[in-house]
Amino acid sequence: MTATMETAPSPSASVVHATTPTVLMCRPEHFTVSYRINPWMHPEDPTDTSLALKQWTVLYDTYVDLGFTVHLIDSLPGLPDMVYAANGGFVLDGIAYGAKFHYPERQPEGPAYMDWFRSQGLDVREPKATNEGEGDFLLVGDTILAASGFRSDTSSHQEIADIYGREVVSLQLVNPSYYHLDTALAVIDPTTIAYLPSAFDDASLSILRERYSDAIIATEEDAAFLGLNSFSDGHNVVIAERATTFAKDLAERGYNPIGVDLSELLLGGGGVKCCTLELRA
Ligand code: ARG
Repeated sequence: MTATMETAPSPSASVVHATTPTVLMCRPEHFTVSYRINPWMHPEDPTDTSLALKQWTVLYDTYVDLGFTVHLIDSLPGLPDMVYAANGGFVLDGIAYGAKFHYPERQPEGPAYMDWFRSQGLDVREPKATNEGEGDFLLVGDTILAASGFRSDTSSHQEIADIYGREVVSLQLVNPSYYHLDTALAVIDPTTIAYLPSAFDDASLSILRERYSDAIIATEEDAAFLGLNSFSDGHNVVIAERATTFAKDLAERGYNPIGVDLSELLLGGGGVKCCTLELRA
């Protein structure tokens, strides 16, 4: 029998992975809840646009303080959900795969974001399939996790695979409150995710368990503040400040959780990640 030389497994030293992302955000200047396309939205309840702006600015400042490059797209009147920039597309390898929104209320956002991508010299690919960008596509290492169930069509999974030539893993969402992948699963670093098991069907769960046996399992309570809707640079993880168990789990593994309060934007069914579209050169 030959002995194999194995190096000791490295500790979960999250610090080594820290990057300085470039992101796109959209000021919630026209934010309100005037229609209902997810269970969080109650158009009959009032919203406070200036509070939304104030809370959003804290998120913006947090990113700037972390050294991120933050670009802004102009917010357009009549598009109250445009603040959720994550849905504006998917950008990787200098290619921007445009969004094609499921609900008519948000459809004009697709071309608006594509115009912005073009203005930055990105190679824009017009979508054929319905898809809501980084809401349903998340890059983990070299793999794209792609969800459907409520918004993005499964045909978009093939489309994104063809565009980037990367491995795409299809997942199925089953809980209408977690209608986008980024409300049910967070990418912490290139090999680590956190997710809410009850948001996925059995087949997807088996895939997640097998591929990410070391994942952080979120509590229902934290998910209900959209705690998973977070943005990580590989070390610093910006999360909803009310997601306290998630914060504790992250800290125990050596990450640096940073809590922000986006309660007003939660009225539209979005949190930290929804407000953040990563631009990967
Ligand atoms: N009101 C928006 C919608 O239902 C919220 C989008 C949140 N964005 C996200 N990436 N999950 O489409």
